[in-house]
Amino acid sequence: MTYLKSATIVVFFAFLFTSLITAEEKSGKDIFVNGKCNACHAIKSQGIESKMADKYPDLSNVGNKNIEADVIKKFLNKETDLNGKKHAVKFKGSEEELNILVDWLLTLKQE
Ligand code: HEC
Repeated sequence: MTYLKSATIVVFFAFLFTSLITAEEKSGKDIFVNGKCNACHAIKSQGIESKMADKYPDLSNVGNKNIEADVIKKFLNKETDLNGKKHAVKFKGSEEELNILVDWLLTLKQE
């Protein structure tokens, strides 16, 4: 019984610990792919393909468009328009994930 209890506690903390680590280590790219952004958008410069690449914009150069981080965040939350349109889908992750995602998107620059 005691053995079972301590085993449970060990497993619990191991789980808590790894989930904290993985949450912190999630990159913008992971969030993009896990969030299925690539169902529509390719980012060829990052090796991300999309079957719909002929219909939706490739984001390889999105960091060069002088769009403010806040505007992209609101756009992805469908709170504001960009180029006169609301985004196709609302972002489903946490605010922290959205911050990491948008910071990463803004680093994507292609000549
Ligand atoms: C169902 C298809 C679809 C999905 C899924 C999708 N988008 Fe979009 N996205 C669009 C469309 C359509 C536009 C507007 C394109 C235009 O203005 O010509 C757009 C525009 C954008 C823009 C602005 C690009 C620019 O140059 O103005 C960004 C940034 C963006 N999406 C990021 C994302 C991210 C991040 C995700 C995942 C959380 C995502 N999109 C998921 C369809 C999609």
